[in-house]
Amino acid sequence: MKIDERMQEADYYIYNVHKELGKTEREIQDRRAAVQQELKETGTYVQTTEELTHGAKIAWRNNNHCIGRLFWNKLDVVDARHFTTEDAVFEALFTHIEQATNNGKVKPRITIFPPEQNGKAQVKIWNHQLFRYAGYQTEEGIVGDPASLSLTKECQKLGWEGKGTDFDLLPIVIQVGDSDPVYREIPEELVLEVPIRHPDFSIFYHLKVKWYAVPIISDMRLEIGGIEYPAAPFNGWYMGTEIGARNLADENRYNLLPHVAKQLGLNTKHLNTLWKDRALVELNVAVLDSFQKNGVAIVDHHTAAKQFKVFENNEKRAGRTVTGKWAWLIPPLSPATTHIFHKPFDNTVNKPNYFYRVEAPYE
Ligand code: ARG
Repeated sequence: MKIDERMQEADYYIYNVHKELGKTEREIQDRRAAVQQELKETGTYVQTTEELTHGAKIAWRNNNHCIGRLFWNKLDVVDARHFTTEDAVFEALFTHIEQATNNGKVKPRITIFPPEQNGKAQVKIWNHQLFRYAGYQTEEGIVGDPASLSLTKECQKLGWEGKGTDFDLLPIVIQVGDSDPVYREIPEELVLEVPIRHPDFSIFYHLKVKWYAVPIISDMRLEIGGIEYPAAPFNGWYMGTEIGARNLADENRYNLLPHVAKQLGLNTKHLNTLWKDRALVELNVAVLDSFQKNGVAIVDHHTAAKQFKVFENNEKRAGRTVTGKWAWLIPPLSPATTHIFHKPFDNTVNKPNYFYRVEAPYE
């Protein structure tokens, strides 16, 4: 980001965040002046803990993809801006995993590593999520998660070897400063996974299907007031359809619908038997029931949509407009049963926000 743009972004943010936090006009003007001065002298500025913490929350509130935004103000924000060694970074990531997992009572959390310095990331996380299953290209086809093929290859180049099952957790790969990438496995005692079983039918037969408890996105850049945080892994809890209607169901992911349909005894010869839909529903029932029985937090899409409605009302009351991306907000299962389907959304992207990185560090 160019300095002029950064000064503008910073000024806009500093004014708004302190206004929202109820600071006096005097306090706001003093802080604005100090930030502009610091920017002139150093090209950047150090955000206060309050500016950082509230910025991460606003970024969640502003994220047009997320149906779970009702809870934006209940985000645990960990300031890890001074963590600049490999040991410290892994330590912070493992602590994140432990605290966010919270024995199944999943807590939304973000750990924020140092900001970019002169346009360069000080800490890089290679993984898309801290938990993700490896994907291997074999002669008999892909084993594991096809979405992980390229990162799995990179891990193997670094010397990592997976067991070769459908559910091998990838190690976490980081790069600190100008050093080479290093990987570490997540300590077993920190890994919470849920075996997926249907309460009434045996939908998987001999297949062992499971999913990890907490989705911790680690490849998005957090931008607050002109400052870019390229390493800022964050998590909420799962919505069932993310696993049951996408990860396990998509043809280019685990592609389990044909298998489930067969186990349910459905006629898969003709599309018009709606075997895909019927299999999809039972697979999603299995995901929700399994998480619940294992004491792991998860939300179904109907409840999530209702919570989103409360969020919309709250925002209106606070005098803010809710932006959103319709195609992301509607659940992939029975979308028209939720109110979200029946109205348009303004997809303006406000900042602070979380952005996709342009390319993976290993590309
Ligand atoms: N859709 C992603 C997945 O299935 C996770 C995205 C974040 N989800 C969340 N509930 N916070 O792994």
